[in-house]
Formats: sequence, C-alpha cells, structure tokens
Amino acid sequence: MASAKDDLYPRKILDYMEGFLVSKTLFAACELGVFEQLHASAQPLSAVELSRALGTSEDATERLLSACVGLELLNTHTDTDGEVRFSNTHMSTVFLIESSPKSLYHSIQYSSRTIYLCWHHLTDAVREGQNQYEKAFGINSKDLFEALYRSDEEIVKFMHLMNSIWNICGHDVIRAFDLSPFRSIFDLGGCSGALAKHCVSVYPESSVTIFDLPKVVKTSRDHFVSQRDDRIHFHEGDFFKDALPPADLYILARILHDWTDQRCVELLRKVYTSCTSGGGVLLVEALLHEDNSGPLTVQLYSLNMLVQTEGRERKGSEYSGLLKAAGFTCVHIHRTGKIYDVILALK
Ligand SMILES: C[S@@+](CC[C@H](N)C(=O)[O-])C[C@H]1O[C@@H](n2cnc3c(N)ncnc32)[C@H](O)[C@@H]1O
Repeated sequence: MASAKDDLYPRKILDYMEGFLVSKTLFAACELGVFEQLHASAQPLSAVELSRALGTSEDATERLLSACVGLELLNTHTDTDGEVRFSNTHMSTVFLIESSPKSLYHSIQYSSRTIYLCWHHLTDAVREGQNQYEKAFGINSKDLFEALYRSDEEIVKFMHLMNSIWNICGHDVIRAFDLSPFRSIFDLGGCSGALAKHCVSVYPESSVTIFDLPKVVKTSRDHFVSQRDDRIHFHEGDFFKDALPPADLYILARILHDWTDQRCVELLRKVYTSCTSGGGVLLVEALLHEDNSGPLTVQLYSLNMLVQTEGRERKGSEYSGLLKAAGFTCVHIHRTGKIYDVILALK
C-alpha cells in the first residue's frame, strides 16, 4: 500500500523512469569491449589505458567505467599514487565474457541492436496491437520469420541469442520431467540445437532431431555444429506446411509464444496426430501466474512478444486449454523457479 513516505520521495518511479539508462550503460560497455579488454589484461587497467585500447574518448570512458562500478560490473583499485584502475567483478567474468560457458554476451548484443529498437515503438504497438518491425527496421513482411531472418548475419545473431539463455536455464528445463521413456525426440523449431545438447547429455539413450526452416538448418551446419554428435540430427521443414515425422516426444521450446492461439492449436493438432501412442509434447515457455500478479519478467516478455511477434506469453491454464483443444488429455505443469517453465502433455 502507498505510504506518505512514497509521496515525499518516489524512489520506484524514478527507478522505472531511469531503468533504460542502466540497460544502455550495460549495452555500451559490452559493445565497446570493456569487459573483454579487462578480461584479456593480466592486471587492472586505468581509464586512460582502456580508452587507448578501445579507441574511445578518455573522459567519456572514465564516466562509463565509473557507472559500471556503480552497477557492480567493475571493481576499482586505487594505487598509492592515487591512480584508479578497473577490473571485472566475478559476475561480469561469468556472464559478460563471450567465451564463458554461462555467457549472456549474445543476449545483450541482440537486446541492444534489435529488441531495444522495437521497444522504442511500444506505445504504437499498444495502439495498433501489432509488432513494430516495419517502423524499427523498415521491413514490411507478413511472415514473421522472414522479417527476423532478413540477412544471413541476422540469422546468426538470432541463433546466438536463442542459445545464450540455455547456458543458464537448459539443465533445469530438461530435468523438469523424466524424459527417459521417450527415445525418439523431435525439437520443433530447435534452432541450432542448444537445448538438444542438454537433452542428450541428460538422456544419452535418446536421439534428438532438430526440425527447423531450411536456412536455419544450413546456418546451424555452417556456424554452430563444431563436433558431430550421432544422437543429434537435423531435418529441414516448415512445421506449419510440411508433414511432421513420427516421434515419441516433440519439444516446443519458445515456439508457441510467437503465435496466435489459432496457429498454436493448428501446430499442436499436427503434433498430436504425428505423436506415437503413449508419446507426448514438452512445452518450454515462461509462464504467467494464474492470478495475473506476475512474474514481472514474464509480463514484460509478453510486451516483448507484442513488439516483435504475433504471439504472447500465457498462463499454465491457457497452455492447457490449447493442448486440450488439440487432443492432449494429461497435462502436467512444472515451474522451475527460473525464467522458463515446462509443460508435459501426453497423448
Ligand atoms: C523463438 S525461436 C526458439 C528456438 C529454440 N526452440 C529455443 O528455444 O532456443 C523459434 C524457432 O522456430 C523456428 N521456426 C519458426 N517458424 C518455423 C516454421 N514454420 N517451421 C519450422 N521452424 C520454424 C525458428 O527458425 C526458430 O528457430
């Protein structure tokens, strides 16, 4: 409840108003290579040394580094002669360095260069009830993924973004249910296979086939598959237009949130028909609370779906409704406590 104290100093409103300053500080420091440069250096660096290495203005770099200290992204060390030097905090080393196994580097790059530009038009998106690709990028395409995949470079960037989150959430998602009875698994819209890798590492007896659009499969082969794994295969296709090969389990991770209810049921009906008897479908999505109280991250993600896609984030009961409309009867919901939750529905 609001108190008289809030009337005197509206801390929350100020934080909300200025939240984008924090995001942009993080984006700029990543884009300029601040964290990578400090990681590569054997010792902490001064603002002057960093600005020389990065080719940036000395004064501006000093201000950026100072803001990163305030955000606990950098540590400071003051020499006996009074010179201030900077180093990465543990959090920055683990999550902001591109080569780190838990890196969010590519998510940050995509947030800065694509998502942020769409969010600039959020007000229009709410007025019009549609995504803002045309305004943000001058792309007028009815096909969502044609717009998203407007160049080879964009495909690679999107795929890096998709992979990035499984560095921190992949294991929880795959372990949410015992998937060992399902030996043949299709990951529909499985992108370059980041989740498939977690799947075969937890269930070595299973094989996973990634079913995705031809250009995504080609890009995966060209850029992402470094080591061959006999348990992971690729299958080119359009899950709305082409037949789905039979399988024990279909994984749909962050697929349904891209589409309208009608398209979701259309896809789930195809999955239901192709699924072997006793088989099922595993939905991986960020779930809204049933009473509309949160989580805030997912409420914001739903706006993100508005500015970027045809879809929305949904409650567990809404996904259950879509699954039941497609023929599935037995629906189990598991909340992981992290961003992505899991729903297993059996045929
Ligand atoms: C939001 S991404 C999710 C990727 C992956 N499942 C994950 O969670 O990291 C949606 C995926 O669906 C694929 N996709 C979109 N439309 C498709 C279609 N009609 N047929 C097959 N795949 C499609 C995209 O190429 C992309 O890989």
